[in-house]
Amino acid sequence: MILLTGASGPTGSVVLKHFVQAGLQVRAFVHRAESAAKVRAAGAAEAFIGDIEQRNDVTAAMQGVQQVYHACPRFSEREVQIVEWMIDAARANPKFRQFIYHSVLHAQNDAMPHHRDKRIAEWRLFDSGLPYTILQPTQYFQVSTRDWKGIVASGEFATPFGADQKLSLVNVEDIAAAATIMATQPGWTGGCFELMSGDSYTRHEMAALMTEALRKSAGWPAGRGVHAVVEDVAHWRDHQRKTGAFSETQIARAEQMFVQYSAHGLSGGNGRVLGMILGRAPSRYADFIARMAVERPQG
Ligand SMILES: NC(=O)c1ccc[n+]([C@@H]2O[C@H](COP(=O)([O-])OP(=O)(O)OC[C@H]3O[C@@H](n4cnc5c(N)ncnc54)[C@H](OP(=O)(O)O)[C@@H]3O)[C@@H](O)[C@H]2O)c1
Repeated sequence: MILLTGASGPTGSVVLKHFVQAGLQVRAFVHRAESAAKVRAAGAAEAFIGDIEQRNDVTAAMQGVQQVYHACPRFSEREVQIVEWMIDAARANPKFRQFIYHSVLHAQNDAMPHHRDKRIAEWRLFDSGLPYTILQPTQYFQVSTRDWKGIVASGEFATPFGADQKLSLVNVEDIAAAATIMATQPGWTGGCFELMSGDSYTRHEMAALMTEALRKSAGWPAGRGVHAVVEDVAHWRDHQRKTGAFSETQIARAEQMFVQYSAHGLSGGNGRVLGMILGRAPSRYADFIARMAVERPQG
């Protein structure tokens, strides 16, 4: 049995699909009852409903598993503590054989508190004495198309950070494929693997690729296009407060990321690492956008 945290989220739901396809028995850790129904329908052997910010729930979820794939909720201020609780539970389990930690590209970058916490959590794993495998993915292709409907309707590709700096990108499907290889085949423990496709684009360049793809698939005329715009951070903050999806700490942490992205983007990484793991070339961002435009030309 492998414990998968965040199993109903943008990362976990894709990892769950790949794990199930590979025949792994998955205990899917979720927060809400409706997400438990979702992960069961997706093939999880067990759904564990709990609060990952509570030690007792983490310890209970870790009971009897041989492996864990841990993707912490975004911008959590408990990221380090949660990993420490998991390490303690894993150490008490003689059958435990691998801790796969979903970290981030450039966890060394202390300008972003969630990167800093992932760096410290990695360090806890280095010192834990447990067999660990660390994945350091960059930003997913899918983040840029979360609001595809809005992009197609308005022609605006809006985020609360600038559009001039390069973002290194990766397909979350490729991350899940790599995760599955690591969970099912020996020989990966002790490694830290930066995962990116090899494609880095500014948001202006991403918008240009969207324009090109929509002109081909949806017959947009030459004068119609997608443009990268910068959403007002105060507007973004108000929206988050209304939905209640993030705590004030999470909002502040996200805003620190926006400042960093506006100034420096998230560049670097090397696509050969992911290619080596997958045994094939990683997915390309232009192909992903072309497929989106064909499958959803109207948004
Ligand atoms: N997005 C990217 O480009 C990217 C790139 C690199 C790394 N990452 C990292 O990937 C990780 C996962 O991010 P994500 O966007 O996939 O997921 P997310 O939206 O942050 O988290 C959603 C998942 O976490 C669960 N969850 C939330 N709060 C919980 C709690 N208190 N107790 C238990 N479960 C809880 C949710 O369960 P319910 O559905 O039940 O609420 C859902 O399964 C983050 O650490 C992020 O930093 C993301």
